[in-house]
Amino acid sequence: MKKISIAIDGHSSTGKSTLARQLAKSLGYVYIDSGAMYRAVALFALENGLIGETLDEAGLLEHLQALELGFEVNPKTGRSEIHLNGENVEQQIRSIAVSRFVSEVAALPEVREKLVKLQQEMGAEKGVVMDGRDIGTVVLPEAELKLFMTAAPEKRAARRYKELLDRGESVTYQEVLRNVRHRDYLDSNREVSPLKQAADAIRLDNSDMGLKEQYERVRSFADRILNAKK
Ligand code: DC
Repeated sequence: MKKISIAIDGHSSTGKSTLARQLAKSLGYVYIDSGAMYRAVALFALENGLIGETLDEAGLLEHLQALELGFEVNPKTGRSEIHLNGENVEQQIRSIAVSRFVSEVAALPEVREKLVKLQQEMGAEKGVVMDGRDIGTVVLPEAELKLFMTAAPEKRAARRYKELLDRGESVTYQEVLRNVRHRDYLDSNREVSPLKQAADAIRLDNSDMGLKEQYERVRSFADRILNAKK
């Protein structure tokens, strides 16, 4: 059976990674969470005193080339998890502190250049599901299946709020909603590779769609492409 590449882009907290993981697992493909790579760079900046009131861009760029980023399967969970300079940072990158600064880090052209190159290397072979903001437009423009996921900001904030509470973070719903809206704005208005729907992407608004229905719908898109390729 021929393999395809699947690019999943869209707004933050629309469940891109949940869908991407489901598809990768059922198709036996590799899952790559490109957002985790931007988050890991933001975590590095936080842990190295490069984020105070503002981001120390020059300081971050000095360290950028030496940063080692990659994914390794965690034998305990069977999931592919992000490693920064040899350390598994999958948990640390999900904190609200990282979320607060990651869009600024992701807007730096030098950061994008390094990460896009790594992502293209990881996606060079077919059989990959990659999620992010610019996968269908910049990283894998030749992907056979492209999705653009969105949902109402209030729905996304409610999902994210629950996730953060479950992880024991102390945040308010209003704080999370503000963060969701702020990230939408920064992601869609930055100069380099802003978030936008690829012309050939399928738009999926999951404000009122369950996970099962969403997965089945998208899997049928993938099957149609795979059957046509046989
Ligand atoms: O998907 P996420 O929320 O984990 O992404 C974290 C941040 O990284 C988000 O603010 C947008 C940015 N990002 C990006 O600019 N390009 C990508 N391909 C993936 C994420």
